Amino acid sequence: MSEHEKGAPVDARVPPVAVWQVLEKLKGQALLDWRLAEVKNRPSVKERNLDTGFAFGWYPVMLSRDLEAGVVKPLRYFSTDLAIWRGMDGKVRMLDAYCKHLGAHLGHGGKVSGNLLECPFHAWRYDGEEGVVKEIPYARAIPPQVKRKCTRTWHVTEANRWIWMWYHPQDVAPMWEVVEQPEATDPEWTDFEIHEWNVWGSLQNMAENGVDFAHFQFIHGTANLPKGELRWGEWGRGADVRAKMGTPMGEVDGCISYDTMGPGQSWTRFTGISETLLIACLTPVEEDHVHARFCFTQPKTQAEGPMGGLARAMIRDICKQFDQDKVVWDRQKFEPNPIICDGDGPIPQFRRFFGRYYVKPEGDPAEGKVEPLKAAS
Ligand code: FES
Ligand SMILES: [Fe+2]
Repeated sequence: MSEHEKGAPVDARVPPVAVWQVLEKLKGQALLDWRLAEVKNRPSVKERNLDTGFAFGWYPVMLSRDLEAGVVKPLRYFSTDLAIWRGMDGKVRMLDAYCKHLGAHLGHGGKVSGNLLECPFHAWRYDGEEGVVKEIPYARAIPPQVKRKCTRTWHVTEANRWIWMWYHPQDVAPMWEVVEQPEATDPEWTDFEIHEWNVWGSLQNMAENGVDFAHFQFIHGTANLPKGELRWGEWGRGADVRAKMGTPMGEVDGCISYDTMGPGQSWTRFTGISETLLIACLTPVEEDHVHARFCFTQPKTQAEGPMGGLARAMIRDICKQFDQDKVVWDRQKFEPNPIICDGDGPIPQFRRFFGRYYVKPEGDPAEGKVEPLKAAS
């Protein structure tokens, strides 16, 4: 009689997935280095069909605590060099990085003067709201070209202990607000545990992962093909994805529930044994490069209690899943006319939905339209 017939638990772990060949040797620091290292000799953005521009929306750029009042920092996102600073009034501001005078980078060596940003080269001082030069300490008059708006100002906001920037290729004002997650600022929940990656691919390919049900079995090793219930909103979408997970004690039911607002904000709640909120911060740097940070928070009673080991194992496992996807994303091409089979998730629906975050060329019948999508599963 087999173990199974006797009613004893059966080891239902699935054999390691194919990408394991890439990952199995990576441990400790080697794994952390691999997560950030550049994938060299990539085909061009055009060859991989990633030359689509960037999707508009709010994107997280840095933790609020990493920008104190009076501090300026350089950033690069959306193929744009930026300077971000916090004025003495506590407000965050962001400008294009290059000074209109002689082109110095305001984020390298610049300084905050009250609420203005002072260029390191000749001390021209910029106003972050108006995008004008307000003071030139050595000149009697400010040139008229920089007295009026002369540089791009970026919308920034703070929520969930992060600073967010609004990206729109035509500088259209924000169309929705960043969604607050109460756990992110709840003192009963742990400080963020953050894990970081550079992904050498596109944000859209990464986002598609959540509706690509078949990959869960072949990349992540779920014991069956998951089922998903999807939610489609005007600017946000979400899903509850259920799959059987093979464990040494047999198969258990797993469920993850994620939501998004725009292309740049997504969060996932894991419930059951370990309650966990994951805030996924995915911000494009170039059309083939996404800076990814996963922020985890859990109830302190759980993380510091007897089940703390399990809670940490869960975070490790989620990061491992991201590693597995990264192996594909780093080399993936965007296939504009994919051939889909019946076991696939709602990939065409996802693509129609995601299309709303791009500016349509003038004359395109879809220009300016946001089509409602019906729930699909
Ligand atoms: S280059 Fe910025 S003040 Fe001269
Ligand atoms: Fe995945």
